[in-house]
Amino acid sequence: MKKTLLPLILVLGITAAHAQSKPNASVIPVPASLIANSGTFTLTSNTVISVSSGSSSELDNMSNQLSKVLQTATGFNLKTGHDAPDAGIKLELLATPYASLGNEGYRLQVTPTGVIISANKPAGIFYGIQSFMQLLPKEIESKTLVNNISWTVPCVTIDDQPRFGWRGLMLDVSRHFFTKEEVKKFMDDMVKFKFNLLHLHLTDDEGWRIEIKSLPKLTSVGAWRVERNGKWANSPKAADDSEPKTYGGFYTQEDIKELVKYGQDRFVTILPEIDVPGHSLAALAAYPELACTGGEHKVFQGIPIMNWFAGGFEAIVENGLCPANEKVYEFLDKVFTEVAPLFPFEYIHMGGDECAKNFWAKSPAVQALMKREGLKTMPEVESYFVRRVEKIVNSKGKKLMGWDEILEGGISPTAHVMSWRGVKGGIEAAKSKHNVVMSPTTFAYLDYVQGEPLLEAPVYASLRLNKAYSFEPVQEGMDAKYVLGGQGNQWTEQIANYRNLQYMTWPRALAIAEATWSPKEKKDWNSFASRVEKQFDRWDISDDKYSKAMYDAIVEASKDDKGNLYANLSTEVSGMNIYYSFDESNPDNYYPKYSKPVLVPKDAVTMKIVTYRDGKQIGKQINIPVTELAKRVPKK
Ligand code: ACM
Repeated sequence: MKKTLLPLILVLGITAAHAQSKPNASVIPVPASLIANSGTFTLTSNTVISVSSGSSSELDNMSNQLSKVLQTATGFNLKTGHDAPDAGIKLELLATPYASLGNEGYRLQVTPTGVIISANKPAGIFYGIQSFMQLLPKEIESKTLVNNISWTVPCVTIDDQPRFGWRGLMLDVSRHFFTKEEVKKFMDDMVKFKFNLLHLHLTDDEGWRIEIKSLPKLTSVGAWRVERNGKWANSPKAADDSEPKTYGGFYTQEDIKELVKYGQDRFVTILPEIDVPGHSLAALAAYPELACTGGEHKVFQGIPIMNWFAGGFEAIVENGLCPANEKVYEFLDKVFTEVAPLFPFEYIHMGGDECAKNFWAKSPAVQALMKREGLKTMPEVESYFVRRVEKIVNSKGKKLMGWDEILEGGISPTAHVMSWRGVKGGIEAAKSKHNVVMSPTTFAYLDYVQGEPLLEAPVYASLRLNKAYSFEPVQEGMDAKYVLGGQGNQWTEQIANYRNLQYMTWPRALAIAEATWSPKEKKDWNSFASRVEKQFDRWDISDDKYSKAMYDAIVEASKDDKGNLYANLSTEVSGMNIYYSFDESNPDNYYPKYSKPVLVPKDAVTMKIVTYRDGKQIGKQINIPVTELAKRVPKK
């Protein structure tokens, strides 16, 4: 019996090894230089991870961390040590710095006998480890032991360094609150793709999320609201005052210190944002005397407070701090006195966006301020406010950063601008010699709908993965030396839990990672899309959520001169076929195949559309009413 089984076991073993993903050198963001060599390195239970002696304790931490991370799926308890001569994985700080690697670059060499990650600085070693992880079989992402895997890595030589020093994601923890553990997980998710900056949007109309000890009501009142879980921005259900304010949360100062340290251990800098003077309803709920008109303010809970599309922002409910009230500056002094020492980063973000001025305009105090200061317009009043805030921020030893509206106020040369209203704010900022971080709505707003709107949670605008991938931080007319980098912004009005946060962030954040890390000339959509698909497999194994909207058809419409309606279909990813029906039945790959704009039959009620690849349905079915299709005809 034994004799006859042995070859079978061998065959099965080989089959299992072949069934796993073939070694490939797929890395996101794409490295500056990757040379694929022949052969593989295989990680075994005997592999030793070694750090050159005399290097920093950060490297010891990284080697211990790497051993731990590798243990989960492999079951190996890899030894770590110093200068181990036969080490399979070596982490080396270069004795003589290699100029082109800078502070974050690394060299990763994989040969059949071992892996060497070398860098000038610990951050480079950290990023080299992230690339190495992506070279391992996807099963390394498993949270449980995986048997029957050969842990092989393709032989490569990677020389890699970032294009930009600012590779950020913004997380809005105000609209919906994310716990300290979730913020840590968000950092874990982002560093895998070499992001190094987490911008925390800590305050807004929907909640104040950071403890300020001298202003306790900011969190005892401002961090809580009546729970609303429906379609967020337009909840028709006015909160009744008798309803308990059970939704919310905030970070204590100890929590913040823990998050900052967690970030530092992963080379993530945290940028705090306190958004003023607009977006301040939560602060006003706590301290109503900071408004121009006084009155009662409630933390926003879904009842419209702003008329966003009024051509210039118009508040329905006063949600701004009063620029003519000295108490406001005393308040901000207290806030920044406590915020500044918590965050080592040299910048504090003051928000400054979307400030409605209609309540200011009605205020006698603001009119008196205008007279006293010689301010002629409401934007000039806002500029006055920004300059006062900058003085306060500077007095705490920090520099000012804000959304591009702050540019309008004649800020100091050291202030950084975060460009969001398309790219023009960034171009203007760079022209006026301000450092700028590009996070334009047009390419980097990760809260926007990412696929067919009929299939996704409703948001007022769309941004597909391929558009995000075309993000270029240095726009024409900009001197590159003022462009610090870019970031994706994740606003959370419609994102109430971590799974949905992941779904909305990934894979579009990968596009931002590649735009900010990789050399421009290395970018290639088809290569990216195929690497993203490999990443999908990894997320499936790690049980992380992401969106596959890139497989769904893009549905547009047009009309000819006679007013006939046509459906114009396309796909983001190449190699897919589109099939459709008009007869209410569900199409498959034996239905009409889309090849050119399709005339919509006069009697059709619904067009049903699916995408296939290699004979298998790959995208979700879209059922679009013809009435909806007609609305998609571009207005002349
Ligand atoms: C913003 O999106 N209001 C900065």
